[in-house]
Amino acid sequence: MTPTDAERAAALAALPGAPPPGTSRPVILDCDPGHDDALAILLACASPELDVLAVTTVGGNSGLANTTRNALRVLTLLGRTDVPVAAGSERPLLREPLVQPDFHGESGLDGADLPDAGFAARSEAAVELMASLVRASRMPVTLVPTGPMTNVALFLRAFPSLRDRIGAISLMGGSLGAGNTTASAEFNIWQDPEAAAIVFGAGIPILMAGLDVTHQALVLPGDVDRLDGLGTRTGRVFADLMRFFAIHHRARYGWEGPPIHDAVAVAVLVAPWVVTRRAMRVDVEIDDGLTRGRTVGDEEGRSGRPVNAEVGVELDRARFMDLVIDAVATFA
Ligand code: RIB
Ligand code: CA
Repeated sequence: MTPTDAERAAALAALPGAPPPGTSRPVILDCDPGHDDALAILLACASPELDVLAVTTVGGNSGLANTTRNALRVLTLLGRTDVPVAAGSERPLLREPLVQPDFHGESGLDGADLPDAGFAARSEAAVELMASLVRASRMPVTLVPTGPMTNVALFLRAFPSLRDRIGAISLMGGSLGAGNTTASAEFNIWQDPEAAAIVFGAGIPILMAGLDVTHQALVLPGDVDRLDGLGTRTGRVFADLMRFFAIHHRARYGWEGPPIHDAVAVAVLVAPWVVTRRAMRVDVEIDDGLTRGRTVGDEEGRSGRPVNAEVGVELDRARFMDLVIDAVATFA
């Protein structure tokens, strides 16, 4: 059922870190573009509910040089060269990075005619840009990590006095059920489990878009046709990106289309009614064994540790996809 305006306002106000009514939520996207990260950036830039302060980049889907270049190219395509970009960590805090070029291609964002970057990344490191923007913000900032959480962990450790200026963390990562990198763990968490443990243990309210909900966020052939049907360059570019992103997912999972995991971490901030969430304690396994990087959801409170997350468990896929395609339609 479509929420009324009053229900929408109430749902947005009930989110952790919500800004005063009628104001946009300041966000910093920390990402590893990546096809689904690219759509997360687009959705954030298209949403009046959000004020995108910056995009910071991390190694993950591809090397840091690629993920940074891709963030610049996507923002150039969207006409948002006003959004500062700063590169962060090339590699996890401790672990050797796993690079899987199959899903996102050699560039990290293969498959479409993206413009060259029309501007350069800032010279300061991601954590420095995060700190300066959080200090300057008149209201608490929401961090939206959609890659390995190395930068966010380093920021929290380097600037402990700014922790209370972070109103919420809406992250893509983890899974209550099976993983996608091992049987136990989802990629963003598995890649840097120590960083994820720091984030989940920081005492900042978390909105978690894990595989339980993001594997429902499939871009089906009809959705790609809708993107093409927009008749715009942005529509065509993202249709092409989704066609590329589908190749490996179809081969590996037999799915009709790819899951745009990261866009769910943004969607929950602008249309929380599309994601059913359950509150629970979530902790991260940092052991080296079979369960490295597993996010353990303790919904019954057996651990005695305080609830730290709202975990997405169900997606209204049709409404979510309408939100995404309507966002793409706002760009030329
Ligand atoms: O496991 C999915 C996550 O890993 C997504 O963020 C995707 O972009 C990759 O980074
Ligand atoms: Ca990502």
